Amino acid sequence: MRVLVTGGAGFIGSHFAKRLERAGEDVVVLDKLTYSGNPANLDGTGIELVVGDICDSQAVERATEGCEAIVNFAADTHVDRSILGATDFGRTEFVGTQTLLELVRKTGMRYVQVSTDEVYGDLETGGSSRETDPLCPSSPYSVAKAAGDLHIPAYVRTFGVQACITRGSNTYGPNQYPEKLIPLFTTNALDAEPLPLYGDGRQVRDWLYVEDHCAGIEAVLRRGRAGEIYNIGGGHEVENIEVAKGIVELTGADPTLLQHVEDRPGHDRRYSLSCEKAKQELDWEPVVSFADGLAQTVAWYRENRPWWDSIKSGEHYRAYYERQYAERLENAE
Ligand code: NAD
Ligand code: DAU
Repeated sequence: MRVLVTGGAGFIGSHFAKRLERAGEDVVVLDKLTYSGNPANLDGTGIELVVGDICDSQAVERATEGCEAIVNFAADTHVDRSILGATDFGRTEFVGTQTLLELVRKTGMRYVQVSTDEVYGDLETGGSSRETDPLCPSSPYSVAKAAGDLHIPAYVRTFGVQACITRGSNTYGPNQYPEKLIPLFTTNALDAEPLPLYGDGRQVRDWLYVEDHCAGIEAVLRRGRAGEIYNIGGGHEVENIEVAKGIVELTGADPTLLQHVEDRPGHDRRYSLSCEKAKQELDWEPVVSFADGLAQTVAWYRENRPWWDSIKSGEHYRAYYERQYAERLENAE
């Protein structure tokens, strides 16, 4: 099968593209190479990388030549950045997803939309989100993701396309751009830099190792029923402060690096996914424990300093870091 993986130079997309290649599939990646897209993530593979935007219908048409499926990872993905400014988030999700689906509708390709548990919103008072729950996004990022998702049932109903949605939980592992909690805190700890924990640090995320996430998406690509949504969660609900302490322990960093800073505006307190449907229908479940996944991830960052040093020393990263953290760290408790 020839498969187009959009956003395949980013974190999860590159792991997925490599997974499909290992399974003997013919993979082509279409990626705009925004700040988080990195061709080095595909080094050592035979995967073709086409640089282009999913909102550009001609680029998409050229890249999909001979393809039987599209798996769409392309997105702006960082909640904090969406709070600083969200225009690109909405464009890629809404216009980009629709551009891909317009081609799917004409060609009959299979389609998987890679979405997120954040579209269900905050579950502070308990319970787990199911695929039938209403959308209740609370950040500009998650609103954009929800907007993209809305196209899928419409194209299935109106045009009968073979499309599914996956909703994954917080994903971690090698090659993640060092702006999200785990890669940021790991690389800061290895450099003896502060670990800026938002608010009381008691927010809960459901951590999913990247290979488990990719296995779930692959199961949906191969066996998902058209029009269906599948939750893909890690089953490891952990408070941020416990994640941070785990990183301190694994890196041997000084615990006083951990600092409570001003909270993220609108911060969702807890996410949780019910993944019974993927287990029952697709025979998928996560296999990597959080302890093993975190240890493997920290080991990867320890052994691959050149990969993240070149990002963190760059002008773009330094400007973002200054804007997001300088004042917070000055006023840290
Ligand atoms: P990432 O930021 O590492 O990768 C995103 C990739 O998309 C980058 O390579 C970027 O260059 C590319 N891209 C952005 N806009 C594009 C456009 N208009 N056209 C083509 N390419 C474009 O993010 P990630 O963590 O790998 O996330 C991948 C997908 O998985 C996203 O859709 C995200 O919403 C979803 N997701 C992520 C997580 C997580 O915890 N990281 C969890 C659930 C779902
Ligand atoms: O839930 C899935 C989502 O997980 C994905 O859809 C998103 O693409 C991905 O970015 C992620 O969103 P989060 O906002 O949950 O991830 P992040 O790593 O930014 O934050 C995780 C938690 O850690 C969150 O409660 C905020 C907190 N945090 C984060 C950073 C970057 C801090 O306390 N300090 C920080 O510096």
